Amino acid sequence: MNRPISVLWGLRSHCASHGCLYCYFGTIAEHREQLPTAPGVLSHLSPHDLTAAEVLAFAETLADSPVGRVFLAGGEPLLWKPIMKLIEILKAGRLEVVVCTSGVALNRPELREPLVELDVDAVSVSLDSADPAYNDTWRPPRRDGDGWQKVVSGISALIEARGSAPRPKVGIYSVITRRNLADVVAVPELAAALGCDYAVPQPIALDPGHKLADELALTPGDLPELQRYFGELYAADLPLVLPGAGYPGQVASAVTRPTGLVPGCFGGNTLFFIEPDGTAWDCPSSLKIAATPAERHRSIAGAAARDLFPAPAGYGVDCALFSVDCVNMWPLTGFDRILTPTGLDVTDA
Ligand SMILES: C[S@@+](CC[C@H](N)C(=O)[O-])C[C@H]1O[C@@H](n2cnc3c(N)ncnc32)[C@H](O)[C@@H]1O
Ligand code: SF4
Repeated sequence: MNRPISVLWGLRSHCASHGCLYCYFGTIAEHREQLPTAPGVLSHLSPHDLTAAEVLAFAETLADSPVGRVFLAGGEPLLWKPIMKLIEILKAGRLEVVVCTSGVALNRPELREPLVELDVDAVSVSLDSADPAYNDTWRPPRRDGDGWQKVVSGISALIEARGSAPRPKVGIYSVITRRNLADVVAVPELAAALGCDYAVPQPIALDPGHKLADELALTPGDLPELQRYFGELYAADLPLVLPGAGYPGQVASAVTRPTGLVPGCFGGNTLFFIEPDGTAWDCPSSLKIAATPAERHRSIAGAAARDLFPAPAGYGVDCALFSVDCVNMWPLTGFDRILTPTGLDVTDA
């Protein structure tokens, strides 16, 4: 790619879709009691999201920058009214666009069809389990009836709307916890049965003090079973793209944390992160954000992308803050293998 930078863009704080108990944005109930104020800490209640005009103005500047791929995430990006205008601007600037969604909105033709018409490159849908009850326990929909079944019907509707067009590629992202290890295999199998193009089982990332950490976070004791499922998954030869062969090892090292050092990290080199309030960070890792000195706090508001995200010089910067957050970025940096299935990525090493 001659525009080598990818940006993960958390567009909006609000999520009218689900109330996932482990969400990076925390829960509304806890934030009603105390709104987080530390830089970079996300909240569904944040009152500081940029205006649509600010977001769209910054988007116009991406065409003239080394950014070649944008992942639009949330909150729930498809329920933000200007989303299609934003995608139109990005595609006009010849960027690849990947929409990350909870999937329920794909049941609405007025949100599904423009994704095909605008030639969106990929849609990553979140579904944690082949078991509807498990999924809807940890990813409870905000409206009755908007659970597992609606996500699956949204995926099928998008694949049908795409027809024989090459895009969008459609995939499933699932959060793997110590309670759904078997979904490392079961969700990709479901994805293949639905006709998806890719599947990514990603380890749950919870700060050690999170109230669900004991119940959900992967531990070294889970590794033998986890690695067995990953072995089964890669041996199954499903007709879809998975993260590169090095990925299960990266998941394992994040669980055991044998070293904190990542040599030549992509964060701040070929991957950046934007939050709904416009703050721009080298990567989404909460450790890295907390360690970013005040003089490096930046915003996209009124800024030009080429100034914030310059062309990378060399192979990244050594980072001593390796964590499970980093592992969840690896499939994003290796997205070539999904958009161009013969492509190799860093997880193949
Ligand atoms: C924050 S969501 C935003 C997009 C959209 N609302 C969705 O759910 O797909 C992006 C992805 O992060 C995942 N995610 C949220 N909290 C997580 C956590 N604590 N650990 C790992 N993945 C998480 C979600 O399941 C989803 O696949
Ligand atoms: S749907 Fe996405 S943004 Fe909304 S609560 Fe769930 S993971 Fe968070």
